[in-house]
Amino acid sequence: MAKLAVLLLFSLAMAMPLVHSIVEDDDEWFQNLHYAKHKVTRLHFYLHDTLSGKNISAVQVAQASTTKKSLTFFGLVFIFDDPLTESPEPTSRPVGRAQGLYGSADQQELALLLAINFVFTTGKFNGSSLTILGTNSALHPPSEMPIIGGTGVFRLARGFVIAKAHSLNVTSSNGILKYSVVAIHY
Ligand SMILES: *[C@@H]1O[C@H](CO)[C@@H](O)[C@H](O)[C@H]1NC(C)=O
Ligand SMILES: *[C@@H]1O[C@H](CO)[C@@H](O)[C@H](O)[C@H]1NC(C)=O
Ligand SMILES: *[C@@H]1O[C@H](CO)[C@@H](O)[C@H](O)[C@H]1NC(C)=O
Repeated sequence: MAKLAVLLLFSLAMAMPLVHSIVEDDDEWFQNLHYAKHKVTRLHFYLHDTLSGKNISAVQVAQASTTKKSLTFFGLVFIFDDPLTESPEPTSRPVGRAQGLYGSADQQELALLLAINFVFTTGKFNGSSLTILGTNSALHPPSEMPIIGGTGVFRLARGFVIAKAHSLNVTSSNGILKYSVVAIHY
C-alpha cells in the first residue's frame, strides 16, 4: 500500500514536463534577481490544531516502545494538515494550510521539533509557501522558529516565526496558535 503510493507519486512527477517549463518561466526571474531588492513581509494568522472531535487535523503516526514511560513523550510523532485563518475563530476567513509533522525530540523537557510547510491560498500569496523548521518549547513560550525557505513569491525566503498559544482545550487537546511571521524575500 505504502509502496504503491510512493510509486504513484514518483510516476506522476516524472510524467509532467516539469524541467522544460521551469527553465523557461524562471529565466526572467533569475535575470531580475540580479537587480532585485529584498522585501520584508509581516503576516499574522491563526493555526487550528485539532486532535479530537469532528474534523481531526493532526494524527499520531508513531511512537517508541519507551514513549509511554517518558515524561516528555520522547519519540511521539504526529502528522498534521491544519487550517490557517485570519482571526482566532475557526469560521473566520481561511488563508492557507499548515502541513507537516511534529515530534517529541527532547528527553529533558517538553518540546516539539516542528517541520511545517505553510501553504497560502489567498491574495498575492495564493500558491506560495514558507517552510519552517525548529523547536516549539512548552516551557519557554513564545517559541521562535526559523524560516528556512519558500516557494512562489517567497522564493529564497529567510526569516522567523513566533508561535504563541491563543487557546488550548486540555480536555480535547485541541489548540489554536497565533503565528507571527517576518519573511525576507525578493
Ligand atoms: C468540519 O468541517 C466542515 C467542512 O469544512 C465544516 O462545515 C464543519 O463546520 C466543521 N465542523 C467543526 C465541528 O468544526
Ligand atoms: C488560488 O489559486 C488557485 C489556483 O490558481 C485558484 O483556483 C483559486 O481560485 C485561487 N484562490 C483565491 C482565493 O484567489
Ligand atoms: C473542550 O473540549 C471538550 C471535549 O471535546 C468539550 O466538551 C468542551 O466544550 C471544550 N471546552 C471549550 C471551552 O471549548
